[in-house]
Amino acid sequence: MNDDERFAQAFYEDLEGGRLGLLSVVAKVVFDLSGYFYAGSLIRKAHLRPSDRMLEVGCGTASMLIRAHGFRNSASKYYGVDISYTMLDRARHNIRRQGLGGSIFIAASPASSLPFKDESFSVVLFAFVIKHLSDETFVSALKEAHRVLMPGGRLVMWEFLPSSMGWANRYVYSITRAVRLRDRGEVISLLEKTSFLHPKPFTILAPWMPTKTFAVVATKRAAK
Ligand SMILES: C[S@@+](CC[C@H](N)C(=O)[O-])C[C@H]1O[C@@H](n2cnc3c(N)ncnc32)[C@H](O)[C@@H]1O
Repeated sequence: MNDDERFAQAFYEDLEGGRLGLLSVVAKVVFDLSGYFYAGSLIRKAHLRPSDRMLEVGCGTASMLIRAHGFRNSASKYYGVDISYTMLDRARHNIRRQGLGGSIFIAASPASSLPFKDESFSVVLFAFVIKHLSDETFVSALKEAHRVLMPGGRLVMWEFLPSSMGWANRYVYSITRAVRLRDRGEVISLLEKTSFLHPKPFTILAPWMPTKTFAVVATKRAAK
């Protein structure tokens, strides 16, 4: 695990463990409801199919995985990894409560080193995770995502954009403990450098978010 991953791990242990006061209270509500608020648009716009075998990196409390699974009435198995044990405990609880223990599987793992065989997934999702990754870890995470995707598989990302207003940036950095917010061009250029093809930005309306967000889908080259 890299230093930025250890830093994010400590933050989410404190956040979900209730040690950050009001921020912990708000975060609990946001994480549990996030799947309901935004999973639908993301699933539609990223064209997720019921047959997709999906991995969510930084799955948090599994809110998104649960909603995505139900939304498409999927018969596929979904997987999630996260670096925070406390978030994963909550995820296990949520998955059990929905009766999805045989369909959604989660494990502790950093984005920079995924515990899956090559070409295991048709979709890899990062929702609100990449702000926690340094440039070095981001590149490792993209290479890992590329490795575990099947040929023709899709990478889907969604994250806050840096704002032109200094106070808004400072607010997002302070509530999320982000290492780095990246603009569209930077994310697209890193996707291309790590061999992803045809990055296509798309819009998700999320007026309740503190700043604007950016979503993108990119593809791994299909087999010849
Ligand atoms: C803002 S939460 C988003 C959770 C979920 N994706 C959602 O949208 O509801 C970010 C999650 O990413 C996890 N995370 C941060 N850095 C990570 C890394 N390097 N590897 C794996 N998980 C990471 C955190 O522990 C946290 O659970």
